[in-house]
Amino acid sequence: MSAPAPITILGLCGSLRARSYNRMALQAAGELLPAGAKLETFDRLRDIPPYDGDEQLKGYPPAAQLLRERIAAADALLIVTPEYNYSIPGVLKNAVDWASRQPAPPFDGKPVAIMGASPGQFGTARAQSHLRQIIMCLNGLVLNKPEVMINQAATKFNADGQLTDEASRTFVADLLTALVTWTKRLQA
Ligand code: FNR
Repeated sequence: MSAPAPITILGLCGSLRARSYNRMALQAAGELLPAGAKLETFDRLRDIPPYDGDEQLKGYPPAAQLLRERIAAADALLIVTPEYNYSIPGVLKNAVDWASRQPAPPFDGKPVAIMGASPGQFGTARAQSHLRQIIMCLNGLVLNKPEVMINQAATKFNADGQLTDEASRTFVADLLTALVTWTKRLQA
């Protein structure tokens, strides 16, 4: 009997910065997956133009179309977001807005896990709360728990960009396990 197909998780990072803590956290997620899951990433948020309904009528811009297709093809999403002014970065909101439009908006019914990293005390708590609300609007199915908020990020990643804080690694692994379990339940 052949092994079941792996659960494919598409990872999005809301930061464009090369030394982004959130990209480092997404990379750590790739190391902490449970058996039977794989992580792919979409790293072209900078190529998605500002949302414009007139442009949408002419056809989705290539990077926005690709994002829609990648979300649709994935079994689940992992969105790793910075916090900008108590909310999510504009580039991430812009990408989500493009992905929210008809036909067949790909967030609909999709399991989504959220996490984030910040140098501050609150570890993106306020941005995550906003992102939950946004995904709720799209009928995405956001995992409630566990919550992963990597605060004081400068102390939790090393100079090579690895997540070295053991407690944070456990939180990320637990989030991924919960996402995969929940995705399988939804697919059953
Ligand atoms: C921030 N930062 C920030 N941090 C935070 O904890 N709460 C906040 O509201 C904000 N606001 C904010 C606004 C803007 C415009 C910027 C550029 C930054 C700091 C932010 O957490 C920090 O720059 C992170 O390092 C960004 O994430 P990446 O790029 O490291 O993934």
